[in-house]
Amino acid sequence: MDGTGDYELDHIILTRDAINKRVSEIAASISEEYRGEELIFTGVLKGAVIFMSDLVRSLDRSVDAKMDFIAVSSYGNASTSSGAVKMIKDMDTYIEGKNVILVEDIMDTGLTLSYLREMLMARGPSAFRTCVLLEKPDRKKVDSIMDYRGFTMPDEFVVGYGLDYAGKWRNLPDIWCVTKR
Ligand code: IMP
Repeated sequence: MDGTGDYELDHIILTRDAINKRVSEIAASISEEYRGEELIFTGVLKGAVIFMSDLVRSLDRSVDAKMDFIAVSSYGNASTSSGAVKMIKDMDTYIEGKNVILVEDIMDTGLTLSYLREMLMARGPSAFRTCVLLEKPDRKKVDSIMDYRGFTMPDEFVVGYGLDYAGKWRNLPDIWCVTKR
């Protein structure tokens, strides 16, 4: 069955081709900025895993890309934000004096990104950038600086390409809107 609980897939909002094209463009911009330098890609688990793995493979060879991960509390099984952000898994890399790029799947209220930015900036990286695949500007509660953005989108709940609803649909190659049954 094509559904989880009371939600089901409705329509594709971003095709795999549109995503791939945009990911290549972002990778080209990052490569331009960090050619020949070390850059620590820090993915926010679990949603950013697929985006980040495509992104790093599209980089110019000269970028010395390292990968690490961080996990924070998510919405659980609800599709609206609780507003609370809690660290579940820290990154392993010591980032003082290093170039760091935080990779996130989606910016909804902006709370996750601003929390992580403040926490990681306190560790003294030499440069800190944020890279977010999707932004929902209508939902924004806090201003978070976004250095690289994939797409802006309307206030819809989406799944696929790493994004989930209750742990489901991360594996879909396209990004879909879900609706209540
Ligand atoms: P924020 O802290 O409100 O910006 O929320 C960011 C997190 O909420 C993302 O990393 C996702 O885990 C989750 N999220 C927000 N909107 C969606 C959505 O449309 N689909 C799937 N997850 C979402």
